[in-house]
Amino acid sequence: MIRFIETEDLLHIRNEVLREGRLTPDECRFPTDKIDGAFHLGYFVEDELVCVTSLFPQGYGTFTGLGYQLRGMATLELHRGKGYGNKLVNFAVIYLRKLGANYVWCNARKKAAKFYHDCGFEIVSDEFEVTGIGPHYVMYLKIQ
Ligand SMILES: CC(C)(COP(=O)(O)OP(=O)(O)OC[C@H]1O[C@@H](n2cnc3c(N)ncnc32)[C@H](O)[C@@H]1OP(=O)(O)O)[C@@H](O)C(=O)NCCC(=O)NCCS
Repeated sequence: MIRFIETEDLLHIRNEVLREGRLTPDECRFPTDKIDGAFHLGYFVEDELVCVTSLFPQGYGTFTGLGYQLRGMATLELHRGKGYGNKLVNFAVIYLRKLGANYVWCNARKKAAKFYHDCGFEIVSDEFEVTGIGPHYVMYLKIQ
């Protein structure tokens, strides 16, 4: 089941999955977590939060229209490959369409590019390095 959640609900998953448990929950906050229009989604399995993502009203580069950035996409290791991440992104896209968004984009880890591609995203940048994390692409999905 998918629910809207608060930043505080997901910090432990960001830490465990995206920062290898190296940070405190507070250090896993993004500066945009509480901006107007930001929202956070969680996939629950029997009341356990297992997959999260966050959406921020922020455009990319020179792209026109209302853009949202998808960030902090993470599924607990035990629950990967079950389609939860795909369902969460699809839910986000349907909700963004209702909000009038034109597109959604993300800085995708190279390792996760196939996951985003399967969700309908395409690569729109050269490969670039994020220090301490590894190679990335900007990926984009047109909504309307
Ligand atoms: C990337 C990530 C969020 C994907 O989450 P997920 O919940 O495993 O995603 P899905 O299950 O929807 O899709 C992942 C894979 O499972 C497959 N899959 C989808 N539905 C499935 C199902 N019902 N049963 C089995 N497998 C399924 C997909 O085809 C995909 O296959 P792939 O391994 O060949 O790419 C997760 O792997 C993760 O947290 N990785 C570490 C952090 C990370 O890299 N985050 C992205 C930062 S940009």
